[in-house]
Amino acid sequence: MSSTVVTDTDLVAATASPLQLKRPPRPKTTALIGTFAQLAKDPLAFMRMAASHGPITRVCIGTEKLVFLADPDLIHEVLVGRASEMFKDRITQKLNEVMGNGLVTSEGAFWRRQRKLMAPLFSRKQLAGYAGIMAERTEVAIAKWQQGEIRDIHLDSMAITLDIIFRTVFGAEMPPANSHKIAHAIELMMDQFEKELRTWRRFVPDSWLKKGRARAAEAREALDSVVYELIAKKRAAGTGGDDLVSRLLAAKGDDGAVMSDQQVRDEAVTMVVAGHETTALVLTFSTMLLSDNPEVGAKLRAELDEVLGGRTPQLDDMAKLTFTRAVILEAMRLFPPVYVIGRQPENTIGLGGYRIDPDDQLLISQWVLHHDSRWFSEPDAFVPERWLGDLEQTLPNHVYMPFGGGLRVCIGQHFAMMESVLCLATLMQRVELQVVADQSRELSPAVTLRPRHGLQAVVHKR
Ligand code: HEM
Repeated sequence: MSSTVVTDTDLVAATASPLQLKRPPRPKTTALIGTFAQLAKDPLAFMRMAASHGPITRVCIGTEKLVFLADPDLIHEVLVGRASEMFKDRITQKLNEVMGNGLVTSEGAFWRRQRKLMAPLFSRKQLAGYAGIMAERTEVAIAKWQQGEIRDIHLDSMAITLDIIFRTVFGAEMPPANSHKIAHAIELMMDQFEKELRTWRRFVPDSWLKKGRARAAEAREALDSVVYELIAKKRAAGTGGDDLVSRLLAAKGDDGAVMSDQQVRDEAVTMVVAGHETTALVLTFSTMLLSDNPEVGAKLRAELDEVLGGRTPQLDDMAKLTFTRAVILEAMRLFPPVYVIGRQPENTIGLGGYRIDPDDQLLISQWVLHHDSRWFSEPDAFVPERWLGDLEQTLPNHVYMPFGGGLRVCIGQHFAMMESVLCLATLMQRVELQVVADQSRELSPAVTLRPRHGLQAVVHKR
């Protein structure tokens, strides 16, 4: 099932203290010796090269110690078996400057309590009420598109999913002015976050980043004032609303305790940040792949015509939209919106017979796993049909993992699948989008995997 080879080293490792173990192997060829330039220039190729070296590979870049895992059993150990001994990686931890101490960044007993409190809010049953919003907001957006015009479908997808996440998190009654303020503040803060992450910035004197940081701090104040006002209004109005903030306010722990306003703020902002660009990317890349593969596009439209016959899709249609779902699974395989996740152990541990230190960043790349020919035939080809059989049941765990895995698997995965299916079905039933011929296909791997120059496409109304 997996490629982990049990060697003498492993047998010794089983009994030895982790401190006595060897460090994971480093690539020997010069091409694999990590440099800022290589990683910064093409992180995707860099991760593929590191993984091709073996199931566990260490690459040192300056003071960063990166350990790439390319084996499902080792990944299982990190995400499931030893999950309680792991923190999120350093970059994810830094996201708390935007998200606060929400589900993505919180740790330990606090995270466990929050996850337990919030899990029921994301069950299929609780989310069912949002299906109407998803399809309707897509219809409203498309209604403004003109026959023959060229649009940036990535920007459009971002606007649609932002509209949906605002309405589901904060409620439909939120004034558009507030949505704009929140969207603008989050954009500024994420922009600063990404600038700081870009490796070259780390060599830049702190004073050079002052202006951007001051702007991000202002944005955070503006964001907080809108969100706290909204929370206060909802508290005053009493519980019972269908939006996620109202449900967070109503949620009670086993001890009867409720969340503070700050915690509700942090969880709400976390959901907006984690939940809109990711899903927008699924729509963007699906559109690109369908335009590049017209025969698949035709098959998708045949399904939509048969199941929907021109009406707006509803929750009940999802079970019948099997090819639409397969297109989405395949788009997330080829272009996983979250293309790498990371962990670091709390203490020194042994992993795969090697010593892992607390400052090692354990990296698991969906990009690498999803393009691996050990599990996917023709790994770079767009073949949605592969998902129509029993592939999902027969793949080893932690091979296809657009939503992560283990205890910290995406809490919004049902939300995201429902949104992707309903929005893509609505979109493709109403329009055919033809990506312009000379459109660049360059990718920009930042926090998520984005098209560097958006996605320009011609609109043909159906
Ligand atoms: C296609 C869309 C999405 C993708 C590809 C995606 C991907 C992921 C991945 C890979 C993780 C795990 C991160 C890790 O292990 O370090 C994650 C976690 C998370 N996602 Fe999503 N996500 C999507 C949509 C959403 C939506 C719609 C929401 C909320 C409405 C959401 C909220 C979260 C939260 C709160 C976490 C942290 C969970 C925890 O640690 O307990 N995501 N997501």
